[in-house]
Amino acid sequence: MTYYRRVGEVPRKRHTRHEVDGTIMAEELVGEEGFSGPSSLLYHRHSPSAVIGIEQADVTAPSEFAPNQPVRPYHLRTTELPAGAGDAVTSRIALLGNADIALSYVTATHTSPLYRNAVGDELAYVQSGEAVVESVFGRMPVHAGDYVVVPTGVTHRWVVGDQAGSAAAPPARLLMFESRSHVRIPARYLTPTGQLAEGAPFSERDQRGPQPEPLLMDGTDVEILVRTRGGYSRHLHRHHPFDVVGWDGCVYPWALSIHDFEPIVGRIHQPPPVHQTFAGPGFVICSFVPRLFDFDPDAVKVPYHHANVDSDEVLFYSGGDFMSRAGSGIGVGSISLHPAGFVHGPQPGSRERSEGQDRTGELAVMLDTFAPLGLASAAHDVSDPDYPYSWAGGRPS
Ligand SMILES: [Fe+2]
Repeated sequence: MTYYRRVGEVPRKRHTRHEVDGTIMAEELVGEEGFSGPSSLLYHRHSPSAVIGIEQADVTAPSEFAPNQPVRPYHLRTTELPAGAGDAVTSRIALLGNADIALSYVTATHTSPLYRNAVGDELAYVQSGEAVVESVFGRMPVHAGDYVVVPTGVTHRWVVGDQAGSAAAPPARLLMFESRSHVRIPARYLTPTGQLAEGAPFSERDQRGPQPEPLLMDGTDVEILVRTRGGYSRHLHRHHPFDVVGWDGCVYPWALSIHDFEPIVGRIHQPPPVHQTFAGPGFVICSFVPRLFDFDPDAVKVPYHHANVDSDEVLFYSGGDFMSRAGSGIGVGSISLHPAGFVHGPQPGSRERSEGQDRTGELAVMLDTFAPLGLASAAHDVSDPDYPYSWAGGRPS
């Protein structure tokens, strides 16, 4: 949940007549957990239920994820994934996943179809480029380094390319997390009444929502791609879904720049939970940002070896240098998977290299899952076969 926002015209009392230009608006509740959780109320010019066509959509469903057997760590190079023309919704390349969350990578060169994911929240991390997330809640420009949360069921599209406003817009490269449920702010960051507490690594001032002007578009016979647990459907709506004259509430797309995440550092090494940014059923997502190293004279500044006995750990290396991984082949655009059952840690020589340094410039996004992650076929296509042996100095000949 996020904090309360209000955009455009809404009536003084909820569930009362809202007349605009002589027409009574159609009220819609977007609510989580039935009628008991966070919600927003939207006021449409037309019924959002006015569907005039329904058909199966020929969209490739998320890949099957094969078990990680025999269990091994992986290094996936997203820079080697195919990057032709595509959009942020239908061109996703699935890499890793389980029943709770799927991770994919997409290079978007043009605007996506209108899309509604009824399975769960989507969280994108913008690795490069820019886009505008247009939704029934309005327009929200996003840039490299932004996390973008799109709540379940919100009709939206990713506008990229010239339509995003730049004369020669580069493609938007996105790391996409698809949850089976909701992506939340960690509960320990929140006061009992839901405010981000002092000590949390970001605050409401860092959270961005849709622009304050309603997004109104005319149009008839408008297609929306709908994803449910059973697959993809195409609904033809009589009117354009972007007809909301006003809304208020606590459910809406929002963005947080990783550059606004304030790192927590200590005299000796701080554990990964200090980097936590989001939480969901079966997973957490953390941000590793440029920060001062541990400052005790005897501190070992690279992470200790660790066995994630209850989780699989995925790191996406977004920018900067990754001193603790030097010699492993890891670089910007790499994804590492360190599964439960494998003990991982810094590469040989990295502790020595860290001595005398007082800060790290790394920028990385971590996904920890509590159930094992499987691999999609595309993951094997861009996997470095030598990575599992990098701690031992190379593959035995
Ligand atoms: Fe780790």
